[in-house]
Amino acid sequence: MADKYTDLVSRGWGRDLAKRLGLPQPVMLRRYEPGVPLVPGPVLVVGTGTAADALETALKGWDVEVVRDAGVAPATGGRHDAGAPPTSSASPSAPAGPGTAAGEGSPKLGGIVLALDAVARPEDLSGPILAAGRALRSLAPSARVVTVSRRSSTSDEPALAAARSGVEGALRSLAKELRNGGTGNGILLGEGVQADAPSVLGALRFLLSGRSAFVDGQFLTVGTAKGELPADPDHPLAGKVAVVTGAARGIGAAIARTLARDGAKVVVVDVPAAGDSLAKVANEVRGTALQLDITKPDAGERILEHALHRHGAFDVLVHNAGITRDKLLANMDVARWDSVIAVNIAAQLRINEALLASGKLGEGFRIVSVASTSGIAGNRGQTNYAASKAGVIGMVRSTAARLAPIGGTANAVAPGFIETEMTAKVPLAMREVGRRINSLQQGGQPVDVAEAIGFLASDAAGGVSGNVLRVCGQYWMGQ
Ligand code: NAI
Repeated sequence: MADKYTDLVSRGWGRDLAKRLGLPQPVMLRRYEPGVPLVPGPVLVVGTGTAADALETALKGWDVEVVRDAGVAPATGGRHDAGAPPTSSASPSAPAGPGTAAGEGSPKLGGIVLALDAVARPEDLSGPILAAGRALRSLAPSARVVTVSRRSSTSDEPALAAARSGVEGALRSLAKELRNGGTGNGILLGEGVQADAPSVLGALRFLLSGRSAFVDGQFLTVGTAKGELPADPDHPLAGKVAVVTGAARGIGAAIARTLARDGAKVVVVDVPAAGDSLAKVANEVRGTALQLDITKPDAGERILEHALHRHGAFDVLVHNAGITRDKLLANMDVARWDSVIAVNIAAQLRINEALLASGKLGEGFRIVSVASTSGIAGNRGQTNYAASKAGVIGMVRSTAARLAPIGGTANAVAPGFIETEMTAKVPLAMREVGRRINSLQQGGQPVDVAEAIGFLASDAAGGVSGNVLRVCGQYWMGQ
């Protein structure tokens, strides 16, 4: 689905006019393309210690030029630019560091990675965060800022908890200050997880890349050191068999295409009435089609049987099928309420039950469910839908624990406004508002949701479970 406004103001006279009138100026986002460098320039790593070193090593392993800044706080009363001098491990053409990175002829930074795992008091934040601040004007379009810090817990001392939580507030605000398609996201390390754990590096790679174009202001928690980085980063799902529900069109079709592009054999599922479109998607991704209404009592058994019988394995299940039947609660009828609950959450629960009870799920099985920002922030006219999508969030958190014994994971993605046939039906004025009320000032594309699901489905995300990753361009509502 097209966003004609973004097309118009992205170039030429349209851009000049929008600027003069003070209208929103969304930019074309950097999206993943095979063979294109991970980031559009050198990356500044802020911080000292083993985490910063491990992140530098990983970046260099991905052919990224690295610049270092110790991120030490200036003496009290000192100027902000009086921190420890940056050191460059890059070629002479790399930026000389944040103090001078905007210098003539220096390449723009592709990103900033902040190693904040050791912050112990709120005062510890100023050095590294102000160092990042000094480099913000040197960022290339669609650059990335990524923090790596520890998740705060109720057992932390108050000052430690304040420092760790402070990272989240600073990052979310910083993300709102970025321009030109830039995004800011964070990785939270669980207890005992180090910065070089596979899922930390997998998450870092995802967040730096064009795969995370519409993920902004979010945190991924890496709870365990499980996971494995793919041998071929362009085919992280090689050899996997994935089932995607609701795949005849929209986000589901994009998920099928993306998982297939990343190497998976894909089974696409949709209602018999969508059989023709489903067959087209199946042919396009060289997968197989299963016509099935997921609310049928034996849906789980039929999905399992199809995957094992036709493909000999079943590694990933993406619960994407969903419907809306919007009405203000005062006007809501039983049919509208019950149909949304039946498709969006009850079917997922029943299918998961059947799969878990079968004893046939392989080691490392992945479930990724599509929730919605409506399930987090609520939305007028969507009590039924929001109940179902908040239900999805509760379900994945609980299912994560049930999959842990087989090394499996359950996560959700929560899309914001995505350009699909579902949102094309929203009245024009509401649609325009829905598109613009996020930090990137535009709707996301179905592929943006698909890329997040691709990451969560991969071996690299083995240490990420029970997470809800919003793909919403940092939507203004909810956290
Ligand atoms: P869509 O309406 O374009 O596609 C949904 C697909 O699910 C259709 O092909 C439909 O036939 C299928 N489906 C519906 N009921 C089914 C059933 N009982 N059994 C099997 N398949 C069934 O919707 P869209 O926009 O692609 O949304 C996909 C998912 O993303 C949904 O879960 C939706 O709630 C969610 N979402 C979408 C957002 C958006 O902005 N488009 C925002 C947030 C969440």
